[in-house]
Amino acid sequence: MPLGKRVTEVTTAEFPKNGKNGNQISYKEKSVSKDTAVSTGFTLFQAEEPQYSFNDIILNKSVYDAIQDVLVLYDKRDLLFNQWGLGERQKNQNRAGINLYGYSGTGKSMAAHAIAKQLNRKILTVDYSQIESKYVGETSKNLVAMFNYAKETNAAIFFDEADALLSRRVTNMSNSTDVSVNQTRSVLLVLINEYDDLILFATNFISNYDPAFLRRILAHVKFELPDEENRYKLWRMYIPSSMPTDVNIRKLAEKYNGITGSNISNAVLNASLRAARLNESLVKHSYFEAAIESIIKSKADNDELGTITSKRTVSEEYVKSQFGGKLPK
Ligand SMILES: Nc1ncnc2c1ncn2[C@@H]1O[C@H](COP(=O)(O)OP(=O)(O)OP(=O)(O)O)[C@@H](O)[C@H]1O
Ligand SMILES: [Mg+2]
Repeated sequence: MPLGKRVTEVTTAEFPKNGKNGNQISYKEKSVSKDTAVSTGFTLFQAEEPQYSFNDIILNKSVYDAIQDVLVLYDKRDLLFNQWGLGERQKNQNRAGINLYGYSGTGKSMAAHAIAKQLNRKILTVDYSQIESKYVGETSKNLVAMFNYAKETNAAIFFDEADALLSRRVTNMSNSTDVSVNQTRSVLLVLINEYDDLILFATNFISNYDPAFLRRILAHVKFELPDEENRYKLWRMYIPSSMPTDVNIRKLAEKYNGITGSNISNAVLNASLRAARLNESLVKHSYFEAAIESIIKSKADNDELGTITSKRTVSEEYVKSQFGGKLPK
């Protein structure tokens, strides 16, 4: 998916006061099931041990360095705040917001875990889109509790898929749901502002940052697609050394570009499944090629269809208000 293709589709609909989800905004979520920290009503959150370290991630050096630049904050406190005097002006000396952004499947969520691991912290993952879509209007006290919990358990807070959170707040409020979404964000803004510790964000692409949130982020780190050398490392990492295969990894790395670590990991699995089903004694090189080609093709098809990652259904009045009182043709 090219960066910049993330769109919010606004549709008119005869969406009555109480929509499907009991409110008027529904977000079509990416249907990833994950071990989310948010449970029912946002009353349960769980900090977990990080699942990855930087040894598990193949990153361009510039990306790795940009992350390490921020983490020095927790490593060289005395130098920075005492010897170099930054403490005179910097009140919140533990505060750091890091936004990991870029293509899907490039290792952003992994990197958030690796950061927590390096700092010897647990990680508390928050899926912000769930807060907005499901728990609108009843969230403030849960959010406060969550920040307190993170502090008490010394966990790094990680807003995964935080595009909605970091994008501009609704300015043209037309219904009570818009108002409560804004209220939730304002509460979060205050909490983030007062939180004197690490907060991680992962986003795909945001065209429209809310400056209020933007100010609180110390570093934006862009996750690029892997270059040939990193593709080579990724293929090597995901093809087990014990696997019987005649694969030519150098050739794979050279031949197929524009792919992510996630694509490579999937291609290895697909190729192995094919070989197992056909009772082959080897996972043949051609199976890896076929698998990655099929993934590349489905990516291209997906791009052609246009990628809609979030869908927001609003009232006709709202759309009219956005188009000078008339519905667009
Ligand atoms: N840089 C990488 N190094 C090693 N493995 C990777 C890398 N990038 C992706 N992967 C593989 O792809 C999977 C998905 O990665 P991850 O969830 O971190 O991507 P993401 O950037 O957070 O994607 P999204 O934007 O869709 O959330 C990982 O579990 C891993 O198997
Ligand atoms: Mg992710």
